[in-house]
Order: sequence, then structure tokens, then C-alpha cells
Amino acid sequence: EHCKGVNGIDKVILREVRGCSAEVYLYGGQVTSWKNEYREELLFVSSKAIFKPPKAIRGGIPICFPQFGNQGSLEQHGFARNRLWSIDPDPPPFPTNNPNKAFIDLILKHSEEDMKIWPHRYEFRLRITLGPGGDLMLTSRIRNTNTDGKSFAFTFAYHTYFAVSDISEVRVEGLETLDYLDNLKDKVRFTEQGDAITFESEVDKVYLSTPTKIAILDHERKRTFVLRKDGLPDAVVWNPWDKKAKAMPDFGDDEYKHMLCVEAACVEKPIILKPGEEWRGRQEISAVPSSYCSGQ
Ligand code: BG6
Repeated sequence: EHCKGVNGIDKVILREVRGCSAEVYLYGGQVTSWKNEYREELLFVSSKAIFKPPKAIRGGIPICFPQFGNQGSLEQHGFARNRLWSIDPDPPPFPTNNPNKAFIDLILKHSEEDMKIWPHRYEFRLRITLGPGGDLMLTSRIRNTNTDGKSFAFTFAYHTYFAVSDISEVRVEGLETLDYLDNLKDKVRFTEQGDAITFESEVDKVYLSTPTKIAILDHERKRTFVLRKDGLPDAVVWNPWDKKAKAMPDFGDDEYKHMLCVEAACVEKPIILKPGEEWRGRQEISAVPSSYCSGQ
């Protein structure tokens, strides 16, 4: 279903038989809503989000490409999140094993304007799929289409804002004992202790070479998000907490309590593509009731 969103920006709504849904803005190629069968919103979008270029939409799943963060010559998190994507007129064939999937194929290509800041030709194909159980899958295929024989390097993240009831009751499992770069401490490398991760102050960490499965347990809401990833070795965990929240114009002062970013990413070692080469990176998220989980 193709319709108009905030400020008349095109959006696409994906629906699943039991009532799950997802909403995708062509601006940023960004998922801005993901609901379960009870119509409960599973992603956080700020009440102060600005749906207008050149700002990226604060929440949902912004795509960070071709640069994650501020390490590099580009603007923070690259430019893909504030470009207008198109519906892909020539999408790759869909595997026929499960026809009960709602999906949309988007594409972003180099523009003359962008080549002034990042002098490379590329095709970025993004498939967003809502599976029969409501799982949300994002698959990126990035191809180097340079004609001058040049390779390019990029970093990447699916900057996923999960909606949580109360950040101080949330636990992340799957990252314990791993090395991470702490963005709050000049990106110095540390090693995480053995316990599941909990939150009581600002966090901005890039966990390195993580397992492919990470769980986010929302104790109060009895919900567990499971994030699975492929082709993306790292995972970013971010919560701005109170001070940084106040400093962000497109983020409510208290909203940090109700969100947590956990992002499948490739940050430490950039991906390098030769002309004609393609890279794939996938993130799949699901939300399951955790009333049966003992884990306490
Ligand atoms: C996180 C980064 O992924 O995104 C943080 O690790 C950053 O350093 C945050 O503050 C939000 O970035 P932005 O550009 O969307 O405000």
C-alpha cells in the first residue's frame, strides 16, 4: 500500500495476515513503524521527530551509509538516511519458498551532487520484508558500479530504535565478555564483564565481532526482541540518557526512558568493494512474549 506520510512524503505500508504491519518512508529508505498483531508499536519514533530534509527522521530504522558515526569526511552517519530513495523498478528475484511475505524493494544510487562529497558510483538495493509471524527483515545489497576502476570503502549500520517500557528494566544478552569501542571515551577499546548489559547512564558503545543473535529483554512489558544479523560483525548500543536527550532538538527530554538503539553494524573494519563487486548485510528482528523465559 503506497500513500503519503508526514509532509506529503511517500510511504509504503506492509501488512501481514494476522494484522502485523510495517511502515517505510522513501525519505531515508527508513522503517518508521513496526507493529505486532495487537497493533502495538515496537519501534521508537520521537514525538519531536522532524520529517523533513535535510534532517534524518529520529527513530525507526535509519540506514547509516556510507559512513557510520563521525569517523570520516562525511556528515555523521553518512547521507543515505536523508536522501529520497526510489521504489526499485528492477528488484532481484524473490525466493519462491514462502509467498506469504509482504515486501518492498527500494533503491538509492549515486547522484552528481553526492559524487562531490563521495566520488563513487553505487547501487544500494534495500529489501524490507515483513514475514508471516511479523518478523521484520532488512537486506541490503550494495554494488560498486564505478567505471574508473576504483574500489570504495564504507561503514554501515541499521540504526534500530527499539521501543521499551522503562530503560532501567531492560537487559541485553549476547554481548557479555566482548570487546567494545567506547564512543564516550575517545573510542578506546574495553572488554565487557560477564553479566548481561543493563542501563543506568548514557551508553554509546560499538561491540566488536559479536554473535549473530542478540536479545533485548523488556522485563516490564514481558517482551523480548531478538535481533539476528548476517554480514555485519559489530553491534552498536546507544542510549543518550537525560543530558544528551535535552541537547537534541528532535528528541523529547524524557524519551530516553522509552528507547534503546541496538544496531547491526560494520564499524571497526570498513567493507571494501572493487568495481562490480556486491556486499550483502542483513538484519532480522522479531518480538516475542518473554513470560515463559526464566532468565531472572
Ligand atoms: C549512535 C552513535 O549510533 O547514534 C551515537 O553511536 C550518536 O554516537 C547516535 O549520538 C545518534 O546519532 P544522530 O546523528 O542520529 O543524532
